[in-house]
Amino acid sequence: MSAIAVSKGQAKLVVQAEQLHRVYAISKGFLRTPDQLQAVSGVSFSVQAGKTLAVVGESGCGKSTLARMVSLIEAPSQGALQIDGVDVVAASAQEKMALRQKVQLVFQNPYGSLNPRKRIGQILEAPLEINTTLAAAQRAEKARAMLALVGLRPEHYERYPHMFSGGQRQRIAIARALMLNPSVVVADEPVSALDVSIQAQVLNLLADLQQDLGLAYLFISHDLGVVRHIAHDVLVMYLGHTVEHGEKSAIFERPLHPYTQALLASTPGLAGSGPAQQRSVLKGELPSPLNPPRGCVFSTRCPHATERCRAERPELQLLHGRQVACFEAARLA
Ligand SMILES: Nc1ncnc2c1ncn2[C@@H]1O[C@H](COP(=O)(O)OP(=O)(O)OP(=O)(O)O)[C@@H](O)[C@H]1O
Ligand SMILES: [Mg+2]
Repeated sequence: MSAIAVSKGQAKLVVQAEQLHRVYAISKGFLRTPDQLQAVSGVSFSVQAGKTLAVVGESGCGKSTLARMVSLIEAPSQGALQIDGVDVVAASAQEKMALRQKVQLVFQNPYGSLNPRKRIGQILEAPLEINTTLAAAQRAEKARAMLALVGLRPEHYERYPHMFSGGQRQRIAIARALMLNPSVVVADEPVSALDVSIQAQVLNLLADLQQDLGLAYLFISHDLGVVRHIAHDVLVMYLGHTVEHGEKSAIFERPLHPYTQALLASTPGLAGSGPAQQRSVLKGELPSPLNPPRGCVFSTRCPHATERCRAERPELQLLHGRQVACFEAARLA
């Protein structure tokens, strides 16, 4: 299946991923054949400049693995990935270096990702020192301008990370990510460690920066409340597979996959009042990714699963304006 440009327009496609797979070999000990863990199984999507694709799903469904592939930390085991029109898999070492500047990461933990021994100015200027020929004065000027852009004050330039609150540190991490003018920011649970009141401020900052700079975001989150705030498109993952993918409005207003329905039903303030959502409370354990169900990956926990669901894996299909992988979705819709 080809990559899905869900909300099409004239905008530039910054990330195009087709059938991405990532397999990990899990050692079982000396001289024993390792197990194969399919962390990501055939995930396709695209992200436009100025848009946010949110990837949601329970712990272990493959969100961070996807983020690591898009940010060129890990190569896909299989599949095609283009960033700014450049084929990542076939890229030369030199092209990869240039691509690494185009994709920047913001992590969950702003405490761990900032060097405690360095002043904020040094932290922000480090990417410029490594990747550009700018003189010290120009680097400092750029760092100070970036501080202002993310809502920090000029005097913060001289301070150390421990002198900042969690929200301010995440602003610094965002500032650092933007120093090389990336096209795409991969944000892996960027506000999960912050107080709810601070979360909204950082999300608003991300939205403003996106508008001003035309950034594409791949936004990883398990929190659907946050996703509703920031996403344009949503990709729902379960055990490494895409189960539903489309525009946020379609997915939030009328989730069609029983897993998406269950996720929404379990999020306070988002649970719909429709009968489908009241019915679906997520029960049972997530199966081991080392031994996924044979048919539909969600069949062991799905209230609507049939014999066919347990035997055969459903492909993504277009239904009511989004892609959904469920044999029963049309009947239940
Ligand atoms: N380097 C690795 N080696 C082996 N298995 C791995 C590795 N990285 C991830 N996995 C496995 O791949 C699967 C997906 O992990 P991943 O970290 O992508 O999930 P996630 O959706 O980000 O979860 P969380 O919400 O907890 O962050 C998990 O089963 C995990 O144990
Ligand atoms: Mg993760």
